[in-house]
Order: sequence, then structure tokens, then C-alpha cells
Amino acid sequence: MDKTQFSILVVDDEADIREVLEITLVDIGYTVFLAEDGKAALDLFGKKHPSIVITDIKMPVMGGIELLRQVKQQSPDTPVIMITGHGDMDLTISSLKFGAADFITKPVNVDMLELAVTKAVDKIIAEQKLVEYTRKLEMLVLEKSKLTSHLSSLGLMIGTVSHNIKGLLTNLDGGLYIARSGMKKNNIADMAEGLDLLAQAVEKIKQMIMDILMYSKDRQMNKQPVSTRQFLADIENTMAMKLAGHAIEFGMVSDQAPQTLHIDAAFMMSALVNILDNAVDACLEDREKSEHQIILSVETRQDQLVMEIKDDGCGMDVETKEKIFDLFFSSKQVKGTGFGLFIARNIIAQHRGTITVDSIKRRGTTFTVFLPLTE
Ligand SMILES: Nc1ncnc2c1ncn2[C@@H]1O[C@H](COP(=O)(O)OP(=O)(O)OP(=O)(O)O)[C@@H](O)[C@H]1O
Ligand SMILES: [Mg+2]
Repeated sequence: MDKTQFSILVVDDEADIREVLEITLVDIGYTVFLAEDGKAALDLFGKKHPSIVITDIKMPVMGGIELLRQVKQQSPDTPVIMITGHGDMDLTISSLKFGAADFITKPVNVDMLELAVTKAVDKIIAEQKLVEYTRKLEMLVLEKSKLTSHLSSLGLMIGTVSHNIKGLLTNLDGGLYIARSGMKKNNIADMAEGLDLLAQAVEKIKQMIMDILMYSKDRQMNKQPVSTRQFLADIENTMAMKLAGHAIEFGMVSDQAPQTLHIDAAFMMSALVNILDNAVDACLEDREKSEHQIILSVETRQDQLVMEIKDDGCGMDVETKEKIFDLFFSSKQVKGTGFGLFIARNIIAQHRGTITVDSIKRRGTTFTVFLPLTE
């Protein structure tokens, strides 16, 4: 036990006693502070935060009992040892009531003093250990519950993903079948249709694998300067493929956009495509209008990059809106895994950005992504 880490405040109005106590305690290895009455001691206690207080009971200005009471109020765990004289019985009993740790009698016997201090130190150490153990235990419990929830979401993930892959395999089979029979009949239109189906399914699988990768590890972002024009052109191409054959118009507004974006292009693309995919689904779901529009706008607002994805699809009610960022929340039955927005928000957070949503049922939805402009 390293005694130098413990400090002791010694309080007595008699200079001789203070001196004897100081010499003895310093000799053992403790740091010692001295005060001549309760009031001076309390001042010093607030400044030096000693580990232990040893105080005479009877002193002018402020006595030992009042000092004990106030020390215990400020710091209930600090042991206070009382020095009592002959005929201090009543005071001794009061100090017991206020939580004194121990008593030594005058004239002070050095062995008794050392014994009382050692006992107090042992108690402090035991309490510190208890706090440390409790903290460790709490951490372990937290770890365990994190692990359990991770495991159960892993199980859920394997289930939903397998289900989705099965659906996509059916699409691949269908595409292959149509393309092959087109080839047999030398029918270019059928071949093209089959290939389109294949391309869509491959794109969806790619997206899903990106999502799983993103979920399975908190992958380190690789942020780099990226040409805004190139990035948006890639999105436009992806969208053109998704929208082929649908009455959905895709528009982009980027005249207020910065020339360069500081992003991990692959991951940010995956986030935006997830949001855009949902917009497409929402437009297809909405049978009230025969034509739809999705608009992506990118602009600098103050010191932020703001990207807005607006659709005039089916929109959503308030209850749905509250859950859309949850992992595995999907209103699309077999067609959705509930990965998209969870991943999108993760990617955006890893870019130190945020995402918000506004939606009105049967009117449409707007997602807004805020990102810091520079690294
Ligand atoms: N633009 C939108 N319009 C209406 N509802 C939306 C829109 N975007 C998201 N949602 C709702 O949020 C839910 C969660 O979206 P998310 O992308 O996380 O999963 P998903 O699209 O169902 O499945 P996945 O993206 O994994 O294929 C959707 O099922 C849908 O109910
Ligand atoms: Mg989605």
C-alpha cells in the first residue's frame, strides 16, 4: 500500500499535539495538513480534499462535532477520527451518531494512532475496490446485452437476406429464361427484356451486398475529393436503368452545388441509391397519379452540403415515419429487407452528417441529407 497517496488533515487547538501527530504521521509516509480549529479545518478540507480527518472534539470557534457533521455532509465517505479527552462521554456519543470512524484518547498513544489510521485507510481502499468492481460489472452486463442484441439481429438478418436472395434468384431465372428463348427465336426484343431483368437483379444483389458489408463491420470511410459532376452522372445512369419502362421522371438540380465533394463515393452512392430506390418504390406504389417525379437537388447552404431527394409517391403516415430508420423495418413485405435507410443513415453519420425526413401520406416524401462541406 502506497501511503504517500493518502493525506490526513489534523485538527487540534493545541500546537504540541498537532506537532506530535504531524511528526508521527509524516514519518509513516502520509501527507499531513494542519488546522487549529473546526472553521480553519473546513476551509482546508474544501481546498485540499484530504483522505482522512483527525480532529480534537473540544476546540474554540468550531468544535470537532460540528466539523464532523459538515465534513460528512460534503463527503460522506471520508473517515473522521475523533480525539477525545477525559469526561467527553456525551460528545463521544454524539460523534458516533454523526458517523465518526474511530476514537483515540488523549494523551495520544502513537500505536493507537497508527492503528486507527491504518483501519481508515483500509476502509477507503476497500470502498474504492468496490466502486471499481461495480463499474466493471456494469460494463460486462452492458457488453453482454449488446452482444445478445447483435446476435439476435444477426439471426434476423440471415433470415431476411436469404429470403430476399431467393426472390432475386427467381428474377435471375426469369431473365435468363426470357433472354434464352429470345435467342432461340432470334427475337431481339425478348433478348433485351431478359437482359434488362438480369441487369436489374444483378444491380439489386450488388446493392444488398454493399449493405451487408456496411452493416457487418463499421467500415472505415475512405473520404476523398470527388468531382460532383462525375458523382451525379453516376447516379443519373443508375436511375436511368431503374426507371426504364416506368412513368417516373428523374430530375437533378445542381447549379448551387460545390465542384468537389469530400466523401467516400462508393458508400455515399449506396446511401443515396437506397433513398432513391425507396422513392421509386413509393411512386410505383401510388396508383392515384399516372405520372411521377423524383428530384435530387444538391446545394451549398451556409457551411453545409445539402442534398434533397423529393418524390411525389405514396408518402407515409406518422407511425411509419417514426420507424423507417430502424434496422429491418419495412412496409414492403417480401419486397423489402428494411436495410436501406438504416444503412443510409449509418453512412451519413460516418460522414459526420445527418438525415431528416418530411412526408405526407398520398402526397410524397422529402429526405434531406446534411453533410459538412470539407474534411
Ligand atoms: N420515399 C418514401 N416514401 C414512402 N415510404 C418510404 C419512403 N422511403 C422509405 N419509406 C418507408 O420506410 C421503410 C423502410 O425503408 P428501407 O429502405 O429501410 O427498407 P425497405 O425499402 O423496406 O427495404 P430495403 O431497402 O432493404 O430493400 C419502407 O419500407 C417504407 O415503408
Ligand atoms: Mg429501401
